[in-house]
Amino acid sequence: MLRAEIGVIGGSGFYSFFDDPQAVHVSTPFGDPSDDIVIGEVDGRRVAFLPRHGHDHRFPPHRVNYRANLWALRSLGVRQVLAPCAVGSLRPENGPGTLVIPDQVVDRTFGRAHTVYDQTGPVVHVSFADPYCPQGRSALVGAASDAGSGSVDGGTLVVINGPRFSSRAESQWHQSAGWSVVGMTAMPEAAIARELAMCFSTICLITDHDAGVEGGESVRHDEVLRIFALNIEHLKTVLRAAIARLPHPSADAAAACECQRALDGMQLPIE
Ligand code: ADE
Repeated sequence: MLRAEIGVIGGSGFYSFFDDPQAVHVSTPFGDPSDDIVIGEVDGRRVAFLPRHGHDHRFPPHRVNYRANLWALRSLGVRQVLAPCAVGSLRPENGPGTLVIPDQVVDRTFGRAHTVYDQTGPVVHVSFADPYCPQGRSALVGAASDAGSGSVDGGTLVVINGPRFSSRAESQWHQSAGWSVVGMTAMPEAAIARELAMCFSTICLITDHDAGVEGGESVRHDEVLRIFALNIEHLKTVLRAAIARLPHPSADAAAACECQRALDGMQLPIE
């Protein structure tokens, strides 16, 4: 059975992450994940890569099976997930190419399967005050800052449902609330990871200024893809360096990161 300790959920540009990849199909109680999971080694660590939208990008953000994706990674042994995503900037000073490692999230999605604890029976409420793993964030912040081409430590990511981009008024509202970046994929991904007691952190690549930001044009998908493609190699370099910085799992469960203790003391309806 193939196993991994670290998971990366990203765009299909991440396939070249490994020298000797092995693909595995995983089924879950929530259906199939977006694609086969590819396992390989980065800096001596076993890493599982899952293309969030499928290898051919067939799942729009609101149709991604986030529950199956996280469940599948967890069933391979993954407890630490790094999840890059493309975002629009809500701040004039942070332009395309900048990497943002948010420390907060606002969920404006709707109609997505957003919990693995959906059945009647013992009720589970996980804490989510600090949605991102402190260890994952610290590895990403350190790696992005070392890589040196513009990064921001902290800020709030607002997740819209999509697939359309925001109107100017929505965008101005998000900006006036003090939020930093806007994307479509990071929720309910982060919350489901917490529900499965997995460490989860995200690194956002800014591809555009959102429509309501000073100087912001109407956001165009082709431009988002173009800027993402221009920056993917840099993002992969940062992710590799972040993986190398992640602490090794401790044999002592009590010493595990607090994210991995999210379910301690709860009566769980599922194994
Ligand atoms: N992804 C990339 N740019 C975006 C934007 N402006 N709004 C929402 N998601 C995005």
